[in-house]
Amino acid sequence: MSLSKWPAGGERELALLREVIEGEHWGGHHPMVGRLEREFAAFCGCAYGLAACNGTVTLEMALEALGVGAGDEVIVPAISFISTATAVSRVGATPVFVDIEGDTFQLDPQRAAAAISKRTRAMIAVHFGGPMADMDRLKSAGLALVEDAAHAHGSEWNGRRAGSWGVAASFSFQNSKVMTAGEGGMLTSNDEELLARARTVGDQGRVAGGGWFFHHEIGTNYRMSALQAAVLLAQFEKLPEQNCRRARNARILQEETQGVKGLCWQEVPPAARVHTNYLSLGRIDSAAMGRTRDDFQRALTGLGIPCTAFYPHTLYNNPVYRRGGCRVEPCPVSEACILDAFWLPHRVLLGSGEETRAAAAAIWQAAGQ
Ligand SMILES: Cc1ncc(COP(=O)(O)O)c(C=O)c1O
Repeated sequence: MSLSKWPAGGERELALLREVIEGEHWGGHHPMVGRLEREFAAFCGCAYGLAACNGTVTLEMALEALGVGAGDEVIVPAISFISTATAVSRVGATPVFVDIEGDTFQLDPQRAAAAISKRTRAMIAVHFGGPMADMDRLKSAGLALVEDAAHAHGSEWNGRRAGSWGVAASFSFQNSKVMTAGEGGMLTSNDEELLARARTVGDQGRVAGGGWFFHHEIGTNYRMSALQAAVLLAQFEKLPEQNCRRARNARILQEETQGVKGLCWQEVPPAARVHTNYLSLGRIDSAAMGRTRDDFQRALTGLGIPCTAFYPHTLYNNPVYRRGGCRVEPCPVSEACILDAFWLPHRVLLGSGEETRAAAAAIWQAAGQ
């Protein structure tokens, strides 16, 4: 089965890249980087944006700018990419791993609230797979909320976009993301001072108007290059249409796979209905399907639909956290998902309706039904 290529670029990416390359400056202080910051932040309904070299350091900058450090705890979901947790560790704080909900795959608000201790300073909510985590319930915990919006470029909670809910939000433009320059990241915030502090961290301790060789803090270089910004501006132009296309095809995929015994797609509450469809996430009840998750995953991949058998372990079961340096709350749902969940990448949803129906047919076949 032929699927849409991802990443995908074309004439627009090349034209903007040429504009940069023909100029005399390719670095992070190029006007295209500033333009991407302003336009992407505005798209998120947010006042300020800070472009960076990836979506890991954006999390680190957010925590550092918030003043999170040694002695502090930060609540994170037990299921995510490793950066969500290591960002906490790298600023000297302790990640507290909390369970997700089995139907939405999002951080469980009730368990998160119950995990708060005297040392808890912040919470990172991942909008896992594209739909946003429950912003109302998670915010009601009263902690500084950082959105890990690496999957959620244009996702909404009750009509308001990801990136505008937390004290800060972190986006990734890594190779697999719904807009990409191979690598890249963006921090958004409505807090001007917080974003200025983050910028100082990632721009060698410089302050606005303070001069190139004047370093006011121990910073580092996390800047996005103009080459990345050029590609991202072109990708950004296509994002709204691609988000709509994936949403249309996701509906087709769901309709066409209704009735597959033992297959359960990620549940999306009405408030999170508009989202990127970055991952098509599901769980397999192997007794009902008559196939194990791994058999299903291998069969589907063999039929030309790339299917990943979820993460191999919860974040706290990675070698780095098996050695300690974290607090782990009971996570029975996360443990179960490790064994029975799977995802399809978003390029499965980037083709025509007919191609999506063919993907659905492959799912029936992989399920042995
Ligand atoms: C949930 C989540 N957070 C953070 C990141 C880190 O982003 P990056 O690869 O741009 O550093 C990723 C992705 O790769 C991710 O999936």
